[in-house]
Amino acid sequence: MPVFNFTLNKKKTSLEAEGDTPLLWALRDELDLVGTKFGCGVGQCGACTVHINGTATRSCLTPLSAIDGMEITTIEGLSEDGTHPVQEAWAELDVPQCGYCQAGQIMTASAFLKENPNPSGEEIREAMHGNICRCASYNRIEKAVALAAT
Ligand code: FES
Repeated sequence: MPVFNFTLNKKKTSLEAEGDTPLLWALRDELDLVGTKFGCGVGQCGACTVHINGTATRSCLTPLSAIDGMEITTIEGLSEDGTHPVQEAWAELDVPQCGYCQAGQIMTASAFLKENPNPSGEEIREAMHGNICRCASYNRIEKAVALAAT
């Protein structure tokens, strides 16, 4: 089997696996990073969102063969102590209900705010619309993204 080398949450990482293994399952099953969630497996829900070279990306659709040499950040690596401004805003506004989609929401929001640190409400809704929340906590999500931007 091939060996893939990448940076994962700032650490050099090697993994021997089939190249078509989705990054989501490599993270969860091989690398013990279970904060990244499986929702749909077909790129529709956003629960599996991680950053690849800083861009919010669906790990369920990303094969290991596509990430060799790249920099991956998961929810576990977003900040050292859970104090990324998006995480703080999430806690302050008590965003999660069941919580299942929240890692993906936070990873999408944090990548978005890096690109657009001062977004309008419409821009926030547009950026977040691909992340599904079955509890429909969309109003709190939008408010938390706006709070993190301030
Ligand atoms: Fe990847 Fe739903 S699990 S988008």
